[in-house]
Amino acid sequence: MTTLATAPEVHGTGPNEQGYLSFVLGSVQFSRDEYFAYINWPTGRHVMSADAFLRALQRDVAWDFFYGIVNFDGVVGTVNHYGTVDLFAGRYNDAYRKAELDHVERLGTPVIRETFKAILADWTNEGFDPFASPEETGSAFGPKRGENNAAITRHRVTAKRIVSLPGDEPLRNDDNGHPVNRMFADVSQDEPEVHAEPGFEGEVTSFNLFAYLSRSQVTWNPSVVSVCRDSLYCPTTEEYILPIIHGNDRAEWFVQLSDEIIWDVEDRDSGAKRSKVVMKAGDVAAMPADIRHQGYSPKRSMLLVWENASAKIPELISSGKFPSQPVDF
Ligand code: PHB
Ligand code: FE
Repeated sequence: MTTLATAPEVHGTGPNEQGYLSFVLGSVQFSRDEYFAYINWPTGRHVMSADAFLRALQRDVAWDFFYGIVNFDGVVGTVNHYGTVDLFAGRYNDAYRKAELDHVERLGTPVIRETFKAILADWTNEGFDPFASPEETGSAFGPKRGENNAAITRHRVTAKRIVSLPGDEPLRNDDNGHPVNRMFADVSQDEPEVHAEPGFEGEVTSFNLFAYLSRSQVTWNPSVVSVCRDSLYCPTTEEYILPIIHGNDRAEWFVQLSDEIIWDVEDRDSGAKRSKVVMKAGDVAAMPADIRHQGYSPKRSMLLVWENASAKIPELISSGKFPSQPVDF
């Protein structure tokens, strides 16, 4: 394993015949052509569809490497150590491990963050929005054609307390640029009435979460709508496939608010299949800390992801002081 300095320096070469730059992170190289992203490392090489690669890269960048592991697919991805990030190939894939073809590169977060942002900016063509559902975006493919910086620099929305309290009203969606999504046309837009005791007007709040989510323009991008110490409520709207396979470093809870998502659950380290979870509206699931999962949403659906953001949890789980599952039945 090599460790690079933390200076945010972007190494790009290029443009190739299709107009795309190539990038280097340690001994890992990234390049793309009209259809594919290519990832090469000293003991192997990998190819992914350019659209799937950009959708995964977009989440990794927007979430600043998220909790634990972000697998772009069964081979390449990142592990967040909150200050440094491992860029890996084959590390969480039994076959690559057994053949000793896997590779890990430990990088300072700024180095990998800036390089990933530069790849995303250069490889995203005009009209392609990696956050949008396939039905609501143009094509990722072809020779380099313009850019879409407005789409790729969106961040997930983060409330400080709860959406709708003073200070967090700007986070609420309205008709200005936030139309109700085509698949949520039947969602009531009524808002609850709040009658607070005098003096408590800024403390008591209520809002229609379904109406709020019905206006989300992005898919598979949880937004933090309430914060109570380490407890984060992160609802999101989902359509098509979660572009990453998430290997968590803590348990997380899912509450299916509408429609249906099918989850593929695998062993976090080997990728061995563990279960298939079909969640229908009203279902609640706890995803344990020793798995990885990828969701499939046949129709746009609403999902509440409930996270405990405590920085102590990964160590408590890896040292065995905390169980990896939050409940025993
Ligand atoms: C997850 O990995 O838990 C996850 C990520 C993004 C979503 C939903 C769930 O939109
Ligand atoms: Fe997850």
